[in-house]
Amino acid sequence: MIKFEDVGKKYPNGFEGLKHINLSIEQGEFVAIIGLSGAGKSTLIRTINRMHDVTSGTLNVDGVDVMSLSGKQLRKFRRNIGMIFQSFNLITRTTVIKNVLTAFVPDMPWFRSTFGIYTREEKMKALECLDKVGILDKAFVRADQLSGGQQQRVALARTLAQNPHIILADEPVAALDPVTAKQVMDDFKRINEDMKISVLINIHHVDLALKYATRVIGIREGEIVYDGPSSEVNGEILSLIYKGQVDSEGNVKEEAG
Ligand SMILES: Nc1ncnc2c1ncn2[C@@H]1O[C@H](COP(=O)(O)OP(=O)(O)OP(=O)(O)O)[C@@H](O)[C@H]1O
Ligand SMILES: [Mg+2]
Repeated sequence: MIKFEDVGKKYPNGFEGLKHINLSIEQGEFVAIIGLSGAGKSTLIRTINRMHDVTSGTLNVDGVDVMSLSGKQLRKFRRNIGMIFQSFNLITRTTVIKNVLTAFVPDMPWFRSTFGIYTREEKMKALECLDKVGILDKAFVRADQLSGGQQQRVALARTLAQNPHIILADEPVAALDPVTAKQVMDDFKRINEDMKISVLINIHHVDLALKYATRVIGIREGEIVYDGPSSEVNGEILSLIYKGQVDSEGNVKEEAG
């Protein structure tokens, strides 16, 4: 469970990125976080694995006060949380399988990581993770020869190899065409349902948020202005989240911007 209690995040320049956040997310939920650019979506998900420190209130993940962690404990904690970015962050000059295998590097003795020596179990696990996202046949292809959607799947497989309880995804489909975006969202959904991994996704596509997530969190200027079932999100709620600039379908209004 992820629990925010009156959490605030003040950046070093004094800007309040998050204000009075109260949230409980149960294991296995699929949550979409929506809001205008600059609303605080990235800030919110990045506090969960301590890429950002919260500056007030308490944040607990699986019963652990995240701000109490340091050194080895913090590194171990982060290993349980997968992170997916818009830009895939692959090593493009090397093969797909080698990219997935890098997930094991933090736990390897130095001589194995230096020489890139992986165990049979690690290789099998990497192949299994590629199979879970439907690109096992691409295992020995160079990452830069894949399409954007396929590259995002490699990133997802690499994250799965860590055995995460939680996957945080910061606009994972923003760089993809609508068809590929749906396919990648299908992967997230399948992983969420089959493996009971909690998924938190920042996303600008309201239609995808409503279609895939069971719960939607709407952020506006660092505050939660909606938290509820995706099925109950309506035009009024979207208008509140997006300051009146989108219609009930999530399309930007003609007169906006
Ligand atoms: N290091 C920083 N120092 C000061 N302010 C910051 C810093 N990082 C982010 N901010 C500010 O915090 C606010 C929230 O940023 P955040 O990146 O969380 O927004 P977002 O909702 O993810 O936006 P987008 O949809 O564009 O990704 C923004 O106003 C941003 O300018
Ligand atoms: Mg962001």
